[in-house]
Amino acid sequence: MSYQMPTMLSKCVTVLMVATTALARTPNGFSPATNTDLIVEYRGFAPQNGVVVARDTTVPEPRIGTLTRLNGTSYAVLMIDLDIPTDNPPATNTLLHWMQTGLTPASTATQLNTTMGTIRAFLLENGTNTAPIVAYFGPNPPARVPLSHRYTQILVDTSDITDEGTQALRTAAGALRGFNAQQVLTQANLGDKVVAGNFYNVTNPGPATTPSPTTSGSGSAATGGTQSGTGSGAGTGGPSTESDVVTAGGVVMRPGGALVGVVMVGAVMFAL
Ligand SMILES: *[C@@H]1O[C@H](CO)[C@@H](O)[C@H](O)[C@H]1NC(C)=O
Ligand SMILES: *[C@@H]1O[C@H](CO)[C@@H](O)[C@H](O)[C@H]1NC(C)=O
Ligand SMILES: *[C@@H]1O[C@H](CO)[C@@H](O)[C@H](O)[C@H]1NC(C)=O
Ligand SMILES: *[C@@H]1O[C@H](CO)[C@@H](O)[C@H](O)[C@H]1NC(C)=O
Repeated sequence: MSYQMPTMLSKCVTVLMVATTALARTPNGFSPATNTDLIVEYRGFAPQNGVVVARDTTVPEPRIGTLTRLNGTSYAVLMIDLDIPTDNPPATNTLLHWMQTGLTPASTATQLNTTMGTIRAFLLENGTNTAPIVAYFGPNPPARVPLSHRYTQILVDTSDITDEGTQALRTAAGALRGFNAQQVLTQANLGDKVVAGNFYNVTNPGPATTPSPTTSGSGSAATGGTQSGTGSGAGTGGPSTESDVVTAGGVVMRPGGALVGVVMVGAVMFAL
């Protein structure tokens, strides 16, 4: 039915190409890539393979699991936004959203009833109550270019991690922005230890605003929210939304402070 028109044909070819290169569960171009599914489940939603998911669905920390039983003794999960805006659009940057180590695979599968169907997954459990290096904070793409962000989750086998490796993860997580998974994992001697991955798409409805040279509008109390981003051991700090402003020096500034910022985001969303 669709072979007759060249445009349709090229679309078919494109789809075919996507299908054949979509073996990776991580986005095209992302490394380390993996072909193994990581199940990321938000209270009945399991967004996979780059599907679009509502921001509100992704607010609580997800459960994660694998379809086959893992045999390692310890795993870490990382989530990275690959598409945060910069002051020089269309250039983008990355942002680390989650880094939890010390997870252990369940020995039996759990049935997850999701919008993607029933999934039997071996959940990764925090049996040792290991504090996260970076506590999960959910997607919140601002109304800036790009409006669509790819949130990528990877599971890393840390069974043989060394103290130096753990320290390398902690140090790297001190700066959430510009997080380069391949570089960081290589530093931690985990470059070839990614065992599963996933990504989904959260899109701000827009329209995108263009950044003004001065941090105008909400900027009156901008310095009130300045955050140094030093790598404190617990690492629970960090921007809670991608609408935080980054200065040239990499300092994160929250317009009007964190609480006001949240209220403003809410107001903008309801106004749309
Ligand atoms: C764990 O599983 C992987 C792949 O399934 C295999 O290569 C590895 O040898 C296994 N390790 C152990 C300790 O059984
Ligand atoms: C999932 O659905 C099945 C029936 O389809 C039900 O027996 C089971 O209790 C449900 N599990 C959860 C966790 O809701
Ligand atoms: C693991 O346990 C710590 C300490 O209780 C908690 O802060 C963290 O949120 C837990 N992480 C997960 C993924 O359950
Ligand atoms: C994400 O989804 C939006 C539609 O909501 C689409 O326009 C955009 O191209 C998608 N982005 C990616 C990177 O797949």
